Amino acid sequence: CGIVGYIGPREATTVVINGLQRLEYRGYDSAGIAIYDPDLGLQLRRSVGKLSNLQQRLAAEPTRGQIGIGHTRWATHGGVTEFNAHPHRDDSGAIVVIQNGIVENYLSLKGRLLELGYQFESQTDTEVIAKLIGHYYRDSRDLVTAVRQTLSELRGGNAIVAFSIHEPDTLVAARLGNAGGVAIGLGEDEQFIASDIPAILDYTRTLIFLEDRDVAVVRRHSVTITRLDGAPVERPTHTIAWDPVAAAKGDYRHFMQKEIAEQPRALMDALRGRIDQERGRIELEDLRLSDDDLRRVRRIYATACGTAWHAALVAKFLIENLAGVRVEVDYASEFRYRGPILQSDGERDALLLAFTQSGETVDTLAAMEEARAQGAPSVAIVNAIGSQAARVADGGPLYLHAGPEIGVASTKAFTSMLVVAYLFALRLAQARGTLTPAQIREHIQALIELPGKAAQTIELATPICIELAERYHRAGNALFLGRQINYPIALEGALKLKEISYIHAEGYPAGEMKHGPIALIDENMPVICIAPRDHIYEKMISNVEQVRARHGQVIAIGHAGDTLLAEKANHMIGVPATLPLLQPVLNVIPLQIFAYHVAVLRGCDVDQPRNLAKSVTVE
Ligand code: G6P
Repeated sequence: CGIVGYIGPREATTVVINGLQRLEYRGYDSAGIAIYDPDLGLQLRRSVGKLSNLQQRLAAEPTRGQIGIGHTRWATHGGVTEFNAHPHRDDSGAIVVIQNGIVENYLSLKGRLLELGYQFESQTDTEVIAKLIGHYYRDSRDLVTAVRQTLSELRGGNAIVAFSIHEPDTLVAARLGNAGGVAIGLGEDEQFIASDIPAILDYTRTLIFLEDRDVAVVRRHSVTITRLDGAPVERPTHTIAWDPVAAAKGDYRHFMQKEIAEQPRALMDALRGRIDQERGRIELEDLRLSDDDLRRVRRIYATACGTAWHAALVAKFLIENLAGVRVEVDYASEFRYRGPILQSDGERDALLLAFTQSGETVDTLAAMEEARAQGAPSVAIVNAIGSQAARVADGGPLYLHAGPEIGVASTKAFTSMLVVAYLFALRLAQARGTLTPAQIREHIQALIELPGKAAQTIELATPICIELAERYHRAGNALFLGRQINYPIALEGALKLKEISYIHAEGYPAGEMKHGPIALIDENMPVICIAPRDHIYEKMISNVEQVRARHGQVIAIGHAGDTLLAEKANHMIGVPATLPLLQPVLNVIPLQIFAYHVAVLRGCDVDQPRNLAKSVTVE
């Protein structure tokens, strides 16, 4: 989703539409604007589909005014309809709101407002925000106060902009959590608001970024930022370079660092439009396979290369657990040459599931080709829009919508792959009846809370990872251990470290350690143990003890507050708990951050490690 706001002497419609056009690359399914003029009042225009539809609407029914907001929406709660498009209005129609993000507790807030007699014209969580702001506005008659009161009741990550005709010279912008950014562009005699910098770079290069729980009152000649509790705060202004690549990197030193930080938003974008919480349903419209097709599937071959192969390994657990379909995982480069038997006994019951960030990896494409030759449909889970894998897949492509990933070492594409694989497994379960709508609803709730937890993980893990990197960046070897669904995460942690820091690292199933790697353990060996409190927690604890007994240095990744694990390990990185099948998404984040800081301290070229390529189009 994209957010744009403007106040100043120009025609707000032009600035807002221009900004939304710059955000088209993020993808969206509907768009809308609200423009205010003292004579014409508040003018709201919304339409589904491309921005050009909205522009046609505007050609027929133009808007005029020097203050306004606009939004491109990618459905999360509620389908793609004009009523569900933003901006949304409060009861009186005087207040309009646009939002990026997910309101995790929207069902309970909506229930409360319904009891109070409020009526809703949409199924969106944003309308709940608008109604709530309107509700509080009645008492305080002050937009900022009403926004503050509303935000203090929301759970989740949100970026919002609100406008009221009663305060026609003011836009209120706010950010809650880390799932969506808000940039305020400073001009002379005018100000801009945007969710993404490119939206306003045509007009200004001087920006302020709101932080979690910041509320900004934006007027033509002033921008005042306070905390959610009203305390005043100063935020630095940044000047963005003209070089488009540098501009895209924003304030980060490396793309990898930026992409790690972008994960909360990427995870949210992977969910958008695909979950229906009220009905407990997964809507993977882009899958292009019917319930009948999905019921026919008895075996899935998951194939990929590199980091994407680790996502395929996780997917095996998800699909087998949730949908009860057997999954075999292969390296694409092996699969294509091993004479795989996709269809046995003339039964057309196999499906190929290809994971690829770039959609151009030659081995993965060859595996898809092999499936095609044997008459098995293939579904691609892919990030790059319009890539080869996206084009040749029979089902899907199921896009990640993670945005461009520039750092060669994959981060946000990996966690997004896990989320899309989770949605796919749930969709399969829905078709096959292995989960009830109530069970699916529980999974959806956990998915909705995931971006927020990813943001918490980044916050919790970063300072510890920096410390640990300082301590261990000179190590020559590292071992990563995990079990079950976290075993692929151990592999991924090792791959990340090896790729960008050139430290030799191995990932191992913790139970196999005693059959080999244990010989390598000494007091110089960092051993990263992934040990969330799940059904094999005790086993992991024994492995931790085995490493300690050989004087290895244990860095444990576990649930925040797990004092037993903290006691057993030399160092502990706590992450929030989620459903066991979703836990890998959070567990991998500290491993990415650790690898990143180790590489930086070793002076490595983080974004372009030697000998590696972002997409490998040769065998
Ligand atoms: C290269 C990259 C890896 C990536 C792999 C698969 O080796 O360096 O980061 O995981 O290719 O790429 P794909 O685009 O198919 O996910």
